[in-house]
Amino acid sequence: MTVDTAMSDTSTIQVGDTSLELPVVVGTENEHAIDIGTLRAKTGYITLDSGYGNTGSCKSSITYIDGEKGILRYRGYPIEVLAEHSTFLEVAWLLIYGELPKADELKRFEDEIKNHAMLHQDMRHHFEGFPATAHPMAVLSSMINATSCYHPEMLEMGAIDESFPSLVAKLIAKVATIAAFSHKKSVGEPQRYPDPSLGYCDNFLHGMFSRPYGRYTAEPEVVRALDQFLMLHADHEQNCSTSTVRMVGSSQANLFASMASGVCALWGPLHGGANQRCIEMLKMIRREKLDVKKVVERVKRKEFKLMGFGHRVYKSSDPRATILKQASDDLLSKLGVDDPLLPIAQELEAVARSDDYFLERNLYPNVDFYSGITLRAIGIPVEMFTVMFAIGRMPGWIAHWKEQHENPSARISRPRQVYTGATERDYTPIGQRA
Ligand code: CMC
Repeated sequence: MTVDTAMSDTSTIQVGDTSLELPVVVGTENEHAIDIGTLRAKTGYITLDSGYGNTGSCKSSITYIDGEKGILRYRGYPIEVLAEHSTFLEVAWLLIYGELPKADELKRFEDEIKNHAMLHQDMRHHFEGFPATAHPMAVLSSMINATSCYHPEMLEMGAIDESFPSLVAKLIAKVATIAAFSHKKSVGEPQRYPDPSLGYCDNFLHGMFSRPYGRYTAEPEVVRALDQFLMLHADHEQNCSTSTVRMVGSSQANLFASMASGVCALWGPLHGGANQRCIEMLKMIRREKLDVKKVVERVKRKEFKLMGFGHRVYKSSDPRATILKQASDDLLSKLGVDDPLLPIAQELEAVARSDDYFLERNLYPNVDFYSGITLRAIGIPVEMFTVMFAIGRMPGWIAHWKEQHENPSARISRPRQVYTGATERDYTPIGQRA
C-alpha cells in the first residue's frame, strides 16, 4: 500500500490493484488528516492503530494541543493566560459554551452551582452502604450514576435544550459535594452540608475540612491554588477518559452515565491515577531512603515507570506541569510549608532530564508530577488526588459530550478489529472431549 498526500486536498492510497482518492481534512491549526471513511467499502481493508496514536476520532473545536511545542489552548486561549487571569468556573463556561461568559452569565452560573450543591437527602444512605475503606473514585463514579436516579429529566434529554445549563450546574455542583462526602465517610466524620454563601472551591474545602466543633476557613492562597489546579485539569482533548465519555455518549447514554464512565477511565494509573501513584512513589523513596540515581536506573531497566513522567502527545514539555511546578513552589512558601517530598521530586526530575533514556524518548514531567505537592499543601489526602482531577475534568467531559450530542452527523462509536482467534471448528460434546 502506498500513500501520496502531495499538496492537495485529497490523498491517493494504493491498496493492491485499487487506487483510492481520499479526502484530506485540514484543521484550523493546519493539522492534516486522511479521511478513511470509505476505505473498507472500496478496498476491503481497515486500518489498525493500537492505542490510537495515529487515529483522529472526531473533529473538535474545544481544545488545541501542539505536543511538539508544548502548547495548550482552551477555545483558542493559551492555558498560561487563563491560569493567570481566569477562574475554574469561568473556564468551565468557556469550554462548554465556547465563549468567555459575560459578567451576568458568569454570576448566574456561579449562583446556580451554589444552589445545586446539596444532594438529595436520600443519597446520604448510599454513602452509608460503602465501607470506610472504599476508594473515593469508586464512590464518585457510583454516586454520579446514582444522582441520575433523582433527576429523571436527565435520562429523557434528547436535544440540547434550555434545560441543559441547569443540568451542567447540577453536575459540576454535586460532584464536589459527593467528593467531600466520600472523604468524610473515609475518615469517619459527619458530612457537612454545602454552604450557599461560599464560592465553589471554598465550599468544597469547607465540605472536606469543617468539623462539627470547628468550621474550616480556607486561606485565599489555598483557594486560588485549588482553583488553578482545577482549571489546569479542565480539558485535554481526546485523552483516555474524554474519549471514553464520547464513546459512551455516542450510544446516546445520558450525561450522568457518560460522566461516570469518564471517572472510571480516569482512575487508571497511566491516566489520572498517576497523581496518587506519583506521591506514593516519592513517599516510598523517602521511607526506604532510596538513592534517586538508583531509582532512575531501575526505571531504565523497566522494573517500574516513573509516575508523573511521559505523555502520548507532549514531546517537549507539558505546559500544565510548568505552571503547577511554579504554583506549588509559591503555595509552599506562602504557607511556610516544608514538604520533604519536594526535594525528592526535584532531584528525580534533574536526574531524569539529564539522562539519555529520558531524552531519547522525550519523557518530561507531566501534569501529575508536581500537582500532588500542591494538593498535599492544601491538605488533600492522597487517596483523593484522582478525585480532584475528576472534579477539574468535569467541564471538559461535559463540553465534549455536548459537542458530540450537537453534531448531526455523529455516529455510534464502533471500531473494528483484526480477528486473530481460532477459525471455524467442530463442536465436541462434553463427554467426548480429550
Ligand atoms: N517511565 C519510564 N519509561 C517510560 C515512561 C515513564 N513514565 N513513560 C514512557 N516510558 C518509555 C516506555 O517504556 C517506552 O520505552 P521503549 O521505547 O523502550 O519501549 C517509551 O518511553 C515510549 O512510551 P510509551 O509507553 O509508548 O508511551 P505512551 O504514549 O503509550 O504512554 C504514558 C504515555 C503517559 C501512559 C506513559 O508515559 C506513562 O505510563 N507514564 C507514567 C504514568 C503517568 O504519569 N501518566 C499520566 C499521564 S498525564 C495525565 C493524563 O492526562 O492522564
